[in-house]
Amino acid sequence: MRKILVTGGTGYIGSHTVVELFQAGYTPVIVDNLSNSSVQILDQIEKIIGVKPEFHQFDLCDTAKTTTFVQNNPDITGIIHFAASKAVGESVIDPLKYYSNNFFSLLNLLNAYKDKPVNFVFSSSCTVYGEPDELPVTESAPVKKAASPYGNTKQIAEEILEETANAYDNYNVIALRYFNPVGAHHTALIGELPIGVPQNLLPFITQTAIGKREKLTVFGNDYDTPDGSCIRDFIHVVDLAKAHVAAIQLLEKGNPNGKYDVFNVGTGNGYSVLEAIGAFEKVSGQKLNYVIGPRREGDIIKVWGDVAKSSQELGWKAELGIDEMMASAWAWEKYLKEHPIG
Ligand code: NAD
Ligand code: WQD
Repeated sequence: MRKILVTGGTGYIGSHTVVELFQAGYTPVIVDNLSNSSVQILDQIEKIIGVKPEFHQFDLCDTAKTTTFVQNNPDITGIIHFAASKAVGESVIDPLKYYSNNFFSLLNLLNAYKDKPVNFVFSSSCTVYGEPDELPVTESAPVKKAASPYGNTKQIAEEILEETANAYDNYNVIALRYFNPVGAHHTALIGELPIGVPQNLLPFITQTAIGKREKLTVFGNDYDTPDGSCIRDFIHVVDLAKAHVAAIQLLEKGNPNGKYDVFNVGTGNGYSVLEAIGAFEKVSGQKLNYVIGPRREGDIIKVWGDVAKSSQELGWKAELGIDEMMASAWAWEKYLKEHPIG
């Protein structure tokens, strides 16, 4: 059983990827410092796959601990690096937290693997495209000046990884640029666990519907889009998790595109904020209490991905649509009400 290190594996996308890796025949090994996730997620994963994944709790910014872990685990052949701080607004207020956490952890890992062959999959983001000039946006679209320190960590990390892969024989790297991950596992046993007031749309919708928030504010309905609200490429987290398995498999086979490669991970379809609300109301069977508010500063107006490269070269395609995204997010919110995690 090939062992894959999943950093940030108790987090939202990481936990779903641990499940998909296991189900594809890999042995996932989780490293997480639990700074933005709960140890209870390990029990939840066990309920799905029948075994508790191997777990190591430490901070990847700790050079000595990271180096020791890598030395003690020579049979790891692949890394999926999710661990990072990810709140865009917080990164503007405390950029050094973001530059420190996101770079020290990445550099410690890369340095620890300097002498070992390793397949490396990195969590990047469509945030690198900013407001795209053409839609759908392709991987070759220009990377725009980052709108936040968080976004900048993704851009610079991509550069670090490309230069590293090209300079040293042992690293083979794929960066996956996620669009907007939403939804939860179909068992409703794992899902997104936002700390405090959610900044992202979907958890705000489900928390409003369950009564934890009074109302959702739609940030602007006067954009140049068909219904005036912003447009996003929402991607089901289980599809996204499967893209990581496909990336590891491509690296194991040998990527004909070379030692560093980038793929969009979206559905290729754009839905507006108001359409997303409509889809949620349809699948949940309840009206959502929402109001139209002012625009949110820094919002991209519309973005959705060209997924031809992912489908042709990564061999991965999203299978789940907006209804499954909304239904699974809603089932997870209802599960959490009965079984609080945190
Ligand atoms: P998450 O916060 O749920 O998961 C990240 C995990 O990493 C958490 O469990 C946290 O405890 C852990 N972690 C953070 N810093 C660490 C450190 N120094 N050492 C050890 N563990 C650490 O986030 P997520 O939504 O699952 O995102 C995973 C990755 O995907 C992140 O890199 C994020 O930037 C990227 N991404 C997320 C989105 C999104 O909308 N969720 C979109 C694009 C890219
Ligand atoms: C989606 C749409 C909001 C909340 C962010 C990061 C990006 C990436 C994904 C990591 C926007 C609207 C939201 C609300 C609303 N993360 N909205 N009311 O902004 O596309 O992307 O997460 O890499 O880097 O910037 O996602 O979910 O915050 O917003 O109307 O209460 O929903 O204005 O149009 P976004 P989001």
